[in-house]
Amino acid sequence: MSRTVYVNGAYVAEEDAMVSVFDRGFLMADGVYEVTSVLGGKLIDFAGHAARLERSLQELEMAAPVSDAELLAIHRELVARNAVVDGMVYLQITRGNPGDRDFAWPDPALVPSTLVLFTQSKPGMADTPQAKTGIRVISIDDIRWGRRDIKTVQLLYPSMGKMMAKAAGVDDAWLVEDGFVTEGTSNNAYIVKGGQIITRQLGTDILHGITRAAVLRFAREAQMEVVERPFAVAEAKAADEAFITSASAFVMPVVEIDGTQIGPGKPGRIATRLREIYLEEARKAAV
Ligand code: PDD
Repeated sequence: MSRTVYVNGAYVAEEDAMVSVFDRGFLMADGVYEVTSVLGGKLIDFAGHAARLERSLQELEMAAPVSDAELLAIHRELVARNAVVDGMVYLQITRGNPGDRDFAWPDPALVPSTLVLFTQSKPGMADTPQAKTGIRVISIDDIRWGRRDIKTVQLLYPSMGKMMAKAAGVDDAWLVEDGFVTEGTSNNAYIVKGGQIITRQLGTDILHGITRAAVLRFAREAQMEVVERPFAVAEAKAADEAFITSASAFVMPVVEIDGTQIGPGKPGRIATRLREIYLEEARKAAV
């Protein structure tokens, strides 16, 4: 069955959805995106994703094509039209179609941005068996650009990282810069040592995860100790636990790095507890 997708104000069947070959998202990766998960037909952390989208747009001097209220209405309409129970809504805004290829940005008053949204259903997403076994990662060099705090659609290197992980027979890759882990290919990275939850501090070198913000808040509310600082791969290998967070993985235990088992090689107590708390609270606050 064909999905209904949203393109610049219209709800259309996916096979009828069109964007110009001159669109700057296509030619220059000149665009930003958000992924909001859906559980029980409701949107998780929508306000956080809308706020980060606004910031990404501002950093790239792009105008928001619709208000937050309209954005929420479009998300809900797509979830309803596609009968999504569990899954996600993908949103992308690019600097539009100037009608030619040119490195310089077009005048936003003359060239409207392109707004596209679509859904992906993933029934039972929150009950994935991976959460019980944990995932395995390799470490790779972080050679991405310097503004990873902007959620741009330049995802070539993260895609290459996933392929390197796949070739190594594992699930994902952690990116390493100057000896320290920045984040995962599409998630934030954490270790736990002596009860302390350690994750890199916010800056331009990582994406400011919406799930990260919520999980750290819940951890502190549960009297867990959170330390925001860089950590090295060697420290991760010697940790008691490790995990990642993202809108699509929620909280996911990591049980191996570069072939070295972390702790007992099973999902840790803190990661497992944080996953439970996050899912429970996120469902309660879903809109
Ligand atoms: N990725 N870091 C990177 C590089 C990411 O791409 C993501 C999200 C995160 C976690 O952010 P959040 O908790 O707001 O999802 C961190 C999304 C899920 C994706 O590209 O599919």
